[in-house]
Amino acid sequence: MVVSEKLDRFFTEKMKDYPTTRSFLVPMLLYSQDELGYVTDELITYLAGKTGLSELEVRNVVSYYSMLRTKPMGKYHVQVCTNISCLLRGGEQIFAHCSKRLGIGHKQATPDRMFSLEEVECIGACSWAPAMQVNYDFHENLTPESADKVLDSYKSKG
Ligand code: FES
Repeated sequence: MVVSEKLDRFFTEKMKDYPTTRSFLVPMLLYSQDELGYVTDELITYLAGKTGLSELEVRNVVSYYSMLRTKPMGKYHVQVCTNISCLLRGGEQIFAHCSKRLGIGHKQATPDRMFSLEEVECIGACSWAPAMQVNYDFHENLTPESADKVLDSYKSKG
């Protein structure tokens, strides 16, 4: 089994709520990515079998959505927005600061795989720009100092 039995059972049950299995593909990919860390070839084969889609169809969906990753990232995936609202309020400086602080660039992970970093498009927090997202948590109105505190808080969690 590529994913846990619990997740496989959840997929089987939840799929019944969707008009087509394809409609449930992106949520399945996200749930699987949360469990595995990234989308593997084995996962693509498993999901194709589970949904009745071809592996190519699953791969097309994976390559379309930037939040789906095909290589391992850090335990804490730091996504810094540099789109227009954040750009105007220092988003690029926040990204550069995080990059320097972590010693990694766009879509790279620290050697211990604690953190990975990504420059992203709007994450829907424009009113509180500049913003970043770490896994599913949002951090807003950032300054380099507050970004440091955010990174420190995840580092101390281990
Ligand atoms: S532009 Fe950065 S959150 Fe929207």
